Amino acid sequence: MGCKDTSAEFFVIKALEDGVNVIGLTRGSDTRFHHSEKLDRGEVMIAQFTEHTSAVKVRGKAIIQTSHGEIKSMEE
Ligand code: TRP
Repeated sequence: MGCKDTSAEFFVIKALEDGVNVIGLTRGSDTRFHHSEKLDRGEVMIAQFTEHTSAVKVRGKAIIQTSHGEIKSMEE
């Protein structure tokens, strides 16, 4: 109890349009949405992968920065 790893790396998502959704998907054998955060243009979310979140889906136009690099969603 109370021994969570808070040192995981952060990733950054910056919305390039209104209504971008950042969706957290659960860790473990049951992969489902557990949280959806709506960002409007210019808003930034800074988050980590945690014991609850193993994957993130970004819906809409955004810049996504991780330790693996930067990518823009919705680009050809
Ligand atoms: N309660 C969630 C968690 O600890 C919060 C969270 C962390 C989250 N990273 C996220 C929600 C990424 C959505 C997307 O896992």
